[in-house]
Parts: sequence; structure tokens; C-alpha cells
Amino acid sequence: MADVHENGYLDEALFDPSVLNQLDMSQFKAEYKNVTTPLTPEHNLQIRPLHLEDYDKGYLDLLKQLTTVGDVTREEFVDRFQKMKACPDTYYIVVIEDLKSGQIIGSATLVKEQKFIHHLSSRGRVEDVIVSDLYRGKELGKLLVDILVCLSQQLNCYKVSLECKDDNLKFYCQFGFERTPGQNFMQQRFYD
Ligand SMILES: CC(C)(COP(=O)(O)OP(=O)(O)OC[C@H]1O[C@@H](n2cnc3c(N)ncnc32)[C@H](O)[C@@H]1OP(=O)(O)O)[C@@H](O)C(=O)NCCC(=O)NCCS
Repeated sequence: MADVHENGYLDEALFDPSVLNQLDMSQFKAEYKNVTTPLTPEHNLQIRPLHLEDYDKGYLDLLKQLTTVGDVTREEFVDRFQKMKACPDTYYIVVIEDLKSGQIIGSATLVKEQKFIHHLSSRGRVEDVIVSDLYRGKELGKLLVDILVCLSQQLNCYKVSLECKDDNLKFYCQFGFERTPGQNFMQQRFYD
């Protein structure tokens, strides 16, 4: 799984890629018009775990289409990646690479939060869903979210949740997400 990268860093996956191959795609909930094989979509696109080398493949630039990222150095990226990887069975960042351009053009994160409640259960949280503006409308966003919902079930999460803007409510409903009456999402923002 790990190769020495030209920059001297070990190229490695954030999580075991076989986890994605074991997904039961018959559980996917969205309707697909064009994608024939979800984990190997056409047009030289590859879906896989985040790799260390994705720093050089525009991963952070992609995230900048979602929110503020700032100037993250390679060392800072490697350090954060290694800290995530040191928490096994927790961080599942799935990316889509365009193999022609060698660029990361889509990404979504599942965080598996370990709990004591519900008899030592886990809760899945879907975060940071982004498809590059040049690739939107090609069913890639649907694929990413379907994969994460299916993955959260495979990882024995008792539920999976996400926070989104009104504009994206309809998008997420197609995967089985529902607004819960009487429940509110609350936050305090300390900085952007
Ligand atoms: C939201 C996002 C991930 C969707 O990715 P995408 O690859 O363009 O979406 P898809 O091609 O898979 O679209 C799937 C379907 O959802 C619909 N859809 C896409 N975005 C939608 C939205 N914001 N609201 C309602 N429907 C939407 C599409 O019309 C399509 O419907 P169809 O299959 O019936 O034609 C993408 O638009 C994006 O990255 N947006 C900016 C970042 C963002 O808002 N992320 C979500 C944060 S909560």
C-alpha cells in the first residue's frame, strides 16, 4: 500500500482501500442515469481513499471550492494526515481522481465517532462533500454520498448525519436523509 514518493514521503492511503471494494452497491439509494459501475466510473475517474500524495494533486485547491483552507504546507498536511491515520477506523476521506489530469476532482469525508451510548455504538458524520465545479452534474456527488452512507452502515454506525444549507436539502434527501422535527443544529463559530 505504501510507495516512496519522489519527494521522499511514503505514499500511502488514509484507510484500507479494500473497504470500498467490499461495499454492497445494491444498497445505493440515488438513481443513476449514466454511471454503470459506481466504483469505477467512466472517463478515467478513480474513487479511492485520500493518499498522502494528493497534496500534489490539488486536493487542498478542491477544498477551497468548499470553504476557507489557508496556506497549508506539505509538512502540515503530512502531519495532519498522519494524525488522522493514527486513529484507526475513524477518518474515511474518499476522493475521486481524474487519472488523465492527475487531479483530485471530488471528495467527501465520513468520520466514525465512537460512543458509549447504544451499547458502545458509533455514529457516522458526513462532512466536506465537494465536486470540482468543472465536473458537477455528472453524478459524482451522488456517488460520493451513496458510498459514505453505505460505508457508515458497513462500519456498524447506528446512524449517519450531516449538516447542510437549505439549498442542498433536496440533494441529500435522495440518500435517505431526513430533517428531524424538533431537532436543531446549533453551533458557535470561533474563527473561519
Ligand atoms: C452538491 C454537490 C456535491 C453535488 O455534486 P454533483 O456531482 O454536481 O451532483 P450530481 O451530478 O451527483 O447531482 C445529483 C443530482 O442532484 C441534483 N443536485 C445537485 N446539487 C443539488 C442541489 N444543490 N440541490 C438540489 N439538487 C441538486 C442534480 O440535479 C442531480 O439530479 P438528477 O440526478 O436528478 O439529475 C456539488 O454541487 C458541489 O460540490 N457543490 C458545492 C459544495 C457543496 O455545496 N457541498 C455540499 C456541502 S453540504
